[in-house]
Amino acid sequence: MPGPPAANRAATRPRPHISGQGGERLLAHLMAMDGHSEAIVDLAAIRSNVAALAEHVGTAEVMAVVKSDGYGHGLVRTATAALAGGATWLGVGHIEEALTLRAAGFTAPVLCLLASPDAPHRDAIAVGVDLSAGTASLIRQIGAAAGTIGVAARVHLKADTGMSRGGAPMARWPELLDAALAEQAAGRCEIIGIWSHLACADIPGHRSVDTQLAAFREALGQAERAGARPAVRHLANTPALLTRPDTWFDLVRPGGGVTGLCTLPGGPPGWLRPAMTVRTHLVQVKRIARGTGVSYGHRYMTGTETSLGLVPLGYNEGIPRAGTNTAPVFIRGQRLTVAGTVCMNQCVVDAGDLPVEAGDEVVLFGPGDHGEPTAQEWADLLGTVSYDIVTRFTGKIPRSYCGVTEADVAEAAVAGAGGTAVLPAAARARGASDHAEVAHPRVQEV
Ligand SMILES: Cc1ncc(COP(=O)(O)O)c(C=O)c1O
Repeated sequence: MPGPPAANRAATRPRPHISGQGGERLLAHLMAMDGHSEAIVDLAAIRSNVAALAEHVGTAEVMAVVKSDGYGHGLVRTATAALAGGATWLGVGHIEEALTLRAAGFTAPVLCLLASPDAPHRDAIAVGVDLSAGTASLIRQIGAAAGTIGVAARVHLKADTGMSRGGAPMARWPELLDAALAEQAAGRCEIIGIWSHLACADIPGHRSVDTQLAAFREALGQAERAGARPAVRHLANTPALLTRPDTWFDLVRPGGGVTGLCTLPGGPPGWLRPAMTVRTHLVQVKRIARGTGVSYGHRYMTGTETSLGLVPLGYNEGIPRAGTNTAPVFIRGQRLTVAGTVCMNQCVVDAGDLPVEAGDEVVLFGPGDHGEPTAQEWADLLGTVSYDIVTRFTGKIPRSYCGVTEADVAEAAVAGAGGTAVLPAAARARGASDHAEVAHPRVQEV
């Protein structure tokens, strides 16, 4: 897998993060956080990931896909860090998310990737949010909404080149083009982009990538012959960005890569840094005899006298129930496995003779620096993708941020990102002493 130049690769692996990308002073880092359940998001990692991705694709622009609350990392914070890292576009799922970004003061182009006939198109058009259209009827609807406020809608025409999800199949592409060009001629829309999405970019060598690429080129050719002059043509998600330069065109759309994740087999390359750490602490420890059943259904039996630790997180908080007897955690420098059924709000770990105590930190996953599991390892063990792991914790446990710069704090204040920033003096008073300059701005968005 190609990677950025060595100098950049080194720059993307700071540990711990004590300086920001532009040399800004960081106000907090991981070790400053205290012990209750939380998802800690490393904004320095997001900035450096985006910078590395941007460098990797050279002249192509980067749209940071921050849908689904920034893949669970926080919409506004992730968008801010991604733009600071060099992204020039933002991608969201729904118009509501785009409006949140505009309300927070973001002026960068924002594309709403999902299209729906009953979406509030007029609200989006009024604040310059780009809309996707994959049917002639939708483009006319968008044009009509634009007509009511006298502002041309910025649209990206979506070709279904083989994903068979949204977008116009090739047989309907000329019809979509005609409708869009008619709306454009009437001043109700501007064709900003033409795009498609790959079905199998994370299956290396899958021949559908070539087939979709050829279909996309054909769609672009037809559009050009019909008179469309889109500013951006885009196709690549994170796996395509990492493995297929021929899919980059004018703009790439990484989502997982922004947060240091990827769905390629084996996960992200080493020069991307997973930004989320989820941790909690043991709330009870007890000694249990050999041959004792643990948790619902007694799906785990102790093989010997052992110490059981109680973890105050379950499937309601984000641990998949499929983590029963499988999910790895990290306590006192050791990997342990969830013992027995994951319950709604709790699960149990068998610590053997490890001298664990109530209050011990339990890291579910993180960047892997200290031997803790990664979201990729969770995904591999549970038969899913890392995106499915990190998005599960959204809104269920508090979220805080490290790798925060003074610029982030200032922007959050302007953008009204919510939460509070504890200033350095206050943080020192709270004992955030592992680095002289470290503060602990706890910016919680849930
Ligand atoms: C249309 C579209 N583009 C880009 C992305 C980003 O994909 P990835 O997170 O693999 O980079 C997604 C994610 O689902 C998507 O739906």
